[in-house]
This record gives sequence, structure tokens and C-alpha cells, in this order.
Amino acid sequence: MRRVGIRRLCTSLGEGFFGNLFKSFRIFRRGFCNLAGTSGMLTQVLKLRSETRRVYGFLRARDLPEDSLSAAMDFWQIVKKRFMCRSYLDRDVPNEVLDRILEVVDHLPSAGHTQPQELIVIRNQNTKESLALAALGQRYVAEAPLDIVVVSDTRRSKQRYGRRGEEFYSIVDGAFAAMLLMPACINEGLGAAFVGAFDDEAVRAVLQLPNVVRPIGIISIGYCAEKGDKLSRLSRHRIIHYETWEE
Ligand SMILES: Cc1cc2nc3c(=O)[nH]c(=O)nc-3n(C[C@H](O)[C@H](O)[C@H](O)COP(=O)(O)O)c2cc1C
Repeated sequence: MRRVGIRRLCTSLGEGFFGNLFKSFRIFRRGFCNLAGTSGMLTQVLKLRSETRRVYGFLRARDLPEDSLSAAMDFWQIVKKRFMCRSYLDRDVPNEVLDRILEVVDHLPSAGHTQPQELIVIRNQNTKESLALAALGQRYVAEAPLDIVVVSDTRRSKQRYGRRGEEFYSIVDGAFAAMLLMPACINEGLGAAFVGAFDDEAVRAVLQLPNVVRPIGIISIGYCAEKGDKLSRLSRHRIIHYETWEE
């Protein structure tokens, strides 16, 4: 009676772990009762093992869209790999790699789809040197083989949203662009660093930006020459709030 109950439970679990355990027990018992059947038992155990793998593979993947398991893993690999790389190998970034990174501009979000974000790609050594000076002497801006400066044309934000567009959305939109460019670099095996400490007017002068085009950040890019320290973060517990903000 009890055994029937267990068997029913196993069936309702879709021949899951308990079902397979039950089968193993039966096979084992049969094996002890009939020594001559040892090789048959071995075959059944092997069959059972592959059946368990098949069932469990299915159970883990069945609620997720196709490829989402591997996609989720790629995402976390990139997030965990990212750090601000400030030292680069003496090795150029090929144009085809750069082109793949630049594809992210086709996927950027922006407030009201105003698309104020624009990028300036810099390989020229003199320009990189001037940018490094504008960035308060941060040398890796000049040492990286490649810099991308993210700027926002605030006219597009202002036209749609007035002052909030000009002073807030245009900056957020530019920051989003920068934050997508960096994982795109990691995805290509490169390192990148975001530089926000710079003199706006000096950057404007170097790149000949009109006043309405605001520099958001300089991203230095190259094959990374450092391992990078994983800086500790404030605890999740401390910075995540639910429903309302509390001290
Ligand atoms: C808005 C902003 C501005 C930043 N400006 C600079 C900068 O000018 N120079 C620099 O070396 N790092 C800069 N950083 C990088 C931060 O120092 C870095 O993200 C932080 O220390 C955490 O380190 P990690 O990103 O390597 O994990 C900036 C980051 C942000 C988000």
C-alpha cells in the first residue's frame, strides 16, 4: 500500500528524481535476487543514468526561452569581467573590431527616442594627447590606442523636453551609450575605461564641439595590460530598498 503511494508520487513527479531512485532500488533488488542477471542490471543502470540526464536537462531548460541559459551566462561573464582598465598593450585595435563595437549605436535607448548621442572616434596621437590634458592629465587617455568620446547634441533633447531634456535626459542618454559601449569592448576581448573628469571647455576646443554639443565621457579602449582589482561594493543589503527609501 505504502509502496503504491510512493510509486504514484514518483509518477506525478514526472519520473523525476524520486521516480528514478525507486527504479534504481527495484533494479538493485532484482540484481541481488538474480546474480546471473548482473550484466542486465548494469545495462539498466546505465540506461537509467542517461534517462535521468535527459529528464533533468529538460526540467532545467523547459521554462526558459531557447538559448536563454547560455545567454544569461554570457551576460554575467561580461558584467563580472568589466573593470576600468587604465593600462594598455602596445597593440592596435583593428577596424573590424571597432566596427563591431560601434554597432551598439543601432540599439541605444534615449528619452522619447530623441537620439542625442553621438560618438567621436579618435586614433590620432596628437588629439589623444590633447584630450589627456583636457582630462586633467590622465595619461591612459593618450596611451590607449583608441578613444571614443561620447557627446550629446542637446538640441534634440531640448526640442522635445525643454530644460529637463537639455540638462538631464541628454546626460542620461549619453551615459547609457557609454555604458553599452564598455561591455561591447569586453565582448571583443578589449579593456575600456570611462573618464568623466575633464574640463568641458578644453574637450570642446580639442574636438571643435559647438556649445550645444555636450561632452559626456571619454572612453579609452585597448587590449588591457592589467588584471584589474575587483573593488568591493557597498553591501546589497545597504543599498537596495523595497517600496520606500529608508536610512
Ligand atoms: C561618471 C563616472 C566618471 C568617472 N570618471 C573617471 C575618471 O575621470 N578617471 C578614472 O580613472 N575613472 C573614472 N571613473 C571610473 C570609476 O572610478 C570606477 O568605475 C570605480 O572606481 C569602480 O571601479 P570599476 O569600474 O573598475 O569596478 C568614472 C566612473 C564614472 C561612472
